[in-house]
Parts: sequence; structure tokens; C-alpha cells
Amino acid sequence: MIAVSLKRGALYWWCTCGASAAQPFCDGSHAQCGKLPLRFESTREETVFLCDCKLTRRPPFCDGSHATIALAGAEEELPGGDLSNGQREEPFREASPRK
Ligand code: FES
Repeated sequence: MIAVSLKRGALYWWCTCGASAAQPFCDGSHAQCGKLPLRFESTREETVFLCDCKLTRRPPFCDGSHATIALAGAEEELPGGDLSNGQREEPFREASPRK
């Protein structure tokens, strides 16, 4: 998430593709991928948190979805990925045949 101060009545173009160097706003880099930016207008002066992971279900605003990326990244660093009790399991354990 990125904190942004919005101006009342101003138009903004939120990057939906993730390629912009001016995150969270569009810089035209989407031309190569075919996505289009999301246009929105601020109705008042305010500071908001805009999504920069592009997983939000409430674009352009952050909804906390980036937390799933952080958790997934942590699991990748730990073989077995079990973060719930600090113990690790074998990452690819074969299932035991049923008798
Ligand atoms: S650069 Fe990403 S939508 Fe325009």
C-alpha cells in the first residue's frame, strides 16, 4: 500500500498492470500488456492508502490483500511452510497408502 494525498475534485489514473514506475499511478507503461488504468476522482482532500500489489478487491484502495503475498513469501522461505506452530514438515511427503 502507498499513502497518497488526494486533492478534491482531481482525476487520477491508478495503474492496474503493475508496470508503472510511478506507482500507484499509471505512467503509460501498460501499452505493452494491453491493460488499462483505472480512472477515479477524489471527492475531497484526504490521505488514502492505494493498492500497489494489484490484488485488491476494492481498487484503487488497499484492502489488505498484500498480506497474503507476505505470508506466501514467508512460506516459500521455509521448507514445508508450516508457520502455525514453528515446526516444519517435509514439503512433498507422499501420502501413505490406505489399508
Ligand atoms: S502503467 Fe499500469 S495501467 Fe498504465
